[in-house]
Amino acid sequence: VEALKKNSAWKGRRGPVVLVIMDGVGYGKYKEGDAVADSKMYNLEAIKAKSPHTRLKAHGTAVGLPSDEDMGNSEVGHNAIGCGRVFSQGAALVSKSIESGAMFQGKTWREVIGNVKTSGGALHFIGLFSDGNVHSHIDHLKAMIIKAKEEGVKKVRIHVLFDGRDVGETSALEYVDPFETFLKSLNNASFDARIASGGGRMWITMDRYGADWAMVERGWKTHVLGMGRQFSSAREAVETYRKEIPGIIDQDLKEFVITENGKPVGTIEDGDSVIYFNFRGDRALEMTAAFEQDDFDKFNRIRRPKVVYAGMMEYDGDMHVPKRYLVSPPAIDRTMGEYLAASGVRTLAISETQKYGHVTYFFNGNRTGKFSEELEDYIEITSDVLPFEQRPWMKCAEITDAVLEAIESGKYNFIRLNYPNGDMVGHTGNYEAVVCSMEAMDLQLGRLAKAVEKAGGIMVISADHGNSDDMFEHDKKTGAVIYKEDGQPKAKTSHSLNPVPCIIYDPEHKGEYTYKPGEGVLKTGLGISSLAATCIQLLGFIPPEDYDPSVLAM
Ligand code: 3PG
Ligand code: CO
Repeated sequence: VEALKKNSAWKGRRGPVVLVIMDGVGYGKYKEGDAVADSKMYNLEAIKAKSPHTRLKAHGTAVGLPSDEDMGNSEVGHNAIGCGRVFSQGAALVSKSIESGAMFQGKTWREVIGNVKTSGGALHFIGLFSDGNVHSHIDHLKAMIIKAKEEGVKKVRIHVLFDGRDVGETSALEYVDPFETFLKSLNNASFDARIASGGGRMWITMDRYGADWAMVERGWKTHVLGMGRQFSSAREAVETYRKEIPGIIDQDLKEFVITENGKPVGTIEDGDSVIYFNFRGDRALEMTAAFEQDDFDKFNRIRRPKVVYAGMMEYDGDMHVPKRYLVSPPAIDRTMGEYLAASGVRTLAISETQKYGHVTYFFNGNRTGKFSEELEDYIEITSDVLPFEQRPWMKCAEITDAVLEAIESGKYNFIRLNYPNGDMVGHTGNYEAVVCSMEAMDLQLGRLAKAVEKAGGIMVISADHGNSDDMFEHDKKTGAVIYKEDGQPKAKTSHSLNPVPCIIYDPEHKGEYTYKPGEGVLKTGLGISSLAATCIQLLGFIPPEDYDPSVLAM
């Protein structure tokens, strides 16, 4: 891309623009369960009181999802923030490709199907088993199974990852039971489809950013090798674990292997085909590496079957992983990072492991590499490997330490950081821990504000989507809180549909853009894709013409 044009009227502040993405922190719709509003966020409130602010949409069509019923998520959120525009995202693209039939005419589908028809092997599906539409959708899985049968595939094995994170925390059987009925309706003398193995998504297979490879190893053993506790059905596994581990939620359910006469019904063997049916890449890349890489060193695979492996999408547009994929990802181009690099802007991107790829890979339109080795630095603070309700402060202090050092160094014009607390702790469903996480993060916002003021910079505070702002299940029609048998509110572990903050903290503001202090007269009705043009303006440049409008009146 070309360098951005400089704004002749204002060249920006002397200090850096610091974009703070408070992952999973929105403005709640309901008072009950809004852990953000319920936390003592003294710094955030003080900053907001003296700064222009507005709310930005972070869900549904505003971030490229199929409908406004779809909650936001970090992938589409960071894509939108980083590329300044809204692209149709994976969920929509896969559905379209199935509806139009394009998926089934594609080369990858033909190879996957052709392979098992020649070898007589099984077609395996591995993926997140829900209709959360964040990483996957069960309807995509069903459509592919139906098509496989039509095309003469004889044996299908499904490896299911229970969700409980993008959907109700104990909803697994609401997917298992109808799915078993669905399979039964398809099965006959020449078609045999079964669930073969599975477990909770936060226990096996779906690790991300190399945070905990042991999860992937457990998944490999379960799905590929058929090693793990044996059950006769997925339902039996869910019920058994729930009885044995009171209070366990779906994402944490242990692994299971379905067996008959003591033999696993669906290990993955030479000649088989495997489709990883998640369309989102962050939690698909590690298992993909285990299947695809010859010199793989993250764990001992014991046996690596010779299979035709395909992902639902291309998960990494830089590295071209996986080698085969069913649907092309959104063609995200000309991201803000690329423009800034072309314009000589020195940039730092930083978070801890759990969200490191969000501020780098997702922010850059699902590419792992930098645009400029010289101008960009990426820092990853290593995350804890334990349930985040036990350490709700996570690494927000360490991230801040590094950012303060970066601000003081004077080296950077633009710093973007992600605080994972609101999201990662929000997903645990533990209200008390969320409040703790918010207050821990708020302390860090206070430290940042001081440093930004001293350096003569600007802090833009926003988020990629809501989560902590909506911690209880509400009745969809009446809005009333849903209570469990023990009288406690039913926890909601998933993201929300709520708008997120956009606060421009600019202590040296001298009227370069207009607003009345305290009244928050930034533009309204915009989405988080407007953050790119906003930051570009604050850096003293003119945003690309087709970027979504900035929130600033300039
Ligand atoms: C996850 O992957 O943890 C959830 O499905 C979505 O969370 P994220 O979009 O905030 O990463
Ligand atoms: Co999340």
